[in-house]
Amino acid sequence: MVVATYRPTRAIVHTQAIQENVENERRRLAEGTELFAVVKANGYGHGALETAQAALAGGATGFCVATLDEAIELREAGFTEPILVMSFIEPCYSALAAAHDIAIAIGTKEGLRETVALLAAGNVANQLKIHLAIDTGMGRIGFCSLAEVLEAIQLIDHSENLLWEGLFTHFATADQADDRYWQQQLERFKEILAGLPREPRYVHTSNSATALWHEAGIGNMVRYGVSMYGLNPSGHALPAPYPLKPALELVSALMQVKHLPEGAGIGYGKTYVTSTTEWIGTVPIGYADGWLRNMQGFHLLVEGERCEIVGRVCMDQLMIRLPRAFPVGTKVTLIGENQQEIISMQDVADQLVTIHYEVACTLSARVPRIYQK
Ligand SMILES: Cc1ncc(COP(=O)(O)O)c(C=O)c1O
Repeated sequence: MVVATYRPTRAIVHTQAIQENVENERRRLAEGTELFAVVKANGYGHGALETAQAALAGGATGFCVATLDEAIELREAGFTEPILVMSFIEPCYSALAAAHDIAIAIGTKEGLRETVALLAAGNVANQLKIHLAIDTGMGRIGFCSLAEVLEAIQLIDHSENLLWEGLFTHFATADQADDRYWQQQLERFKEILAGLPREPRYVHTSNSATALWHEAGIGNMVRYGVSMYGLNPSGHALPAPYPLKPALELVSALMQVKHLPEGAGIGYGKTYVTSTTEWIGTVPIGYADGWLRNMQGFHLLVEGERCEIVGRVCMDQLMIRLPRAFPVGTKVTLIGENQQEIISMQDVADQLVTIHYEVACTLSARVPRIYQK
């Protein structure tokens, strides 16, 4: 997708906020515990490379991503720190991962056997680093029993092309006040850990929510994702133990301002009709930018005033009702602060009945990311 640089719609990413969120989390970690910055999905929409750089400045020592392509992007940009692909990759790409010194997650016997066989058949320069995924109750990826894990370790140990580097699990309810299921998962993980002949270099169980609210979480590395971007993983449910600084602002500007008479229809389907003479402003952002149609009825900030989105959000534009005439070019804030008024990503998520993770990831590639320290 072509980035729309010749219009005023921009996502401004404050890299200092990312750095500070990482620093704040680092300060709370036990001596020897590392923080891997989760920069998958283009750094949750904030930009993978710039986010990775800011995380390193804050004390991150490695990265987690979801796909091999994301990992290779980091390597090709010159990042030499450990990188883990947390989701499965197809075994046919394992030599590629090894060549780039990228660790991968494995959680099935079949996947491991195929990987061993494929690497044995080819010329592999580096050992492929393996993190064994344990499914303690997420029901997504991973081995479910100690016996399977012991067998996997044996297979790895018998292959000169593989190195057992990590063991991990993922919690399903770490962002909830009721921690009973979280405790059950932890117990399952501890049982498996206790039955192993040795521990690998990295044992990791914590995402942001576990790191923030479950100090008893075990391991020597945390996979710090959404909180690095200044977002509370629980939404409204739990207060963060330290202030999280939101890193992303979304701004645009008024492109047209018109004074319409009573009874004027606005937008596709004429879902809004002016009830009196009204000032209507047009803003160049729409659902192709990730500002979805269900944002109709929400508001944007113009000179610190909340202005309702009226009519349907179009693919590339939307209309707002203004309290008075504003000059064309006046700044519009969709996410962020505008003259002491704030719209948070959580507010947008609430409007869409979703989570801020989804809002951040939905911002499309058409919106330029501008980085400010
Ligand atoms: C396995 C795993 N670990 C860590 C994370 C990071 O989670 P969060 O962004 O909530 O910190 C994710 C994100 O989805 C994940 O899938």
